[in-house]
Amino acid sequence: MTVMTVMTIPVITIDGPSASGKGTVAARVAERLGFHYLDSGALYRAAAVASIHAGIDPQDEPRLVERVRSLQLRCAGERVLMDGEDVSAAIRTEEAGVRSSQVAAVPGVRAALLDLQRGFLQAPGLVADGRDMGTVVFPQARLKVFLTASALIRAQRRHKQLIEKGFSANLDALLRDLQERDERDRSRAVAPLAAAPGAREIDSSTLTIVQVVDQILRWYAQA
Ligand code: CDP
Repeated sequence: MTVMTVMTIPVITIDGPSASGKGTVAARVAERLGFHYLDSGALYRAAAVASIHAGIDPQDEPRLVERVRSLQLRCAGERVLMDGEDVSAAIRTEEAGVRSSQVAAVPGVRAALLDLQRGFLQAPGLVADGRDMGTVVFPQARLKVFLTASALIRAQRRHKQLIEKGFSANLDALLRDLQERDERDRSRAVAPLAAAPGAREIDSSTLTIVQVVDQILRWYAQA
């Protein structure tokens, strides 16, 4: 495909802080439109798991970047394969979540994952969720959404999600982790978490998933 063709494929970006509901909402919007879906956080989480497995300190940029560059990452639906190994469960632990925001602050890691993310852009369209989808990865997106919710609601959602997946979880510790992670994501020098210029903002604290999905689809129909 030519660069022009790629640039005309419609993209919807959904960025926002941890556990704001981006993943569920983005996957449903993609399903309703028949679009592809990119969970960019899963790639940073996989990089985190790789660094934990290899015992690489997230501060050790050269080793970390070399490892991430050599990773063979594949997403197949909900499954994530890293060098052929299914890491779908391993990337969802809280430890991987905390480590992911540390490795995500390293510029070389972000650069190493850029082409992989852009490769998800295929006809008939893409819904991409993360922190910098609208600001850095797909600045040409037709619709940019910034999805938030209060910290307590987000911690409660994450708690429920972890318990449902069979992990143990403590609400106070989750709230603390989440606030620390958001702070790190917002204050980093490269691709910080921020609403893209022109992004539509939506606070999901008191909305259901269906309401958020419908709102995004209405915005997209007008975009
Ligand atoms: O599941 P949760 O919303 O907590 O996080 P995630 O979307 O799986 O992303 C995990 C971490 O990866 C985030 O805390 C960010 O530090 C990082 N990330 C990023 O920097 N840029 C992205 N586009 C997506 C995730």
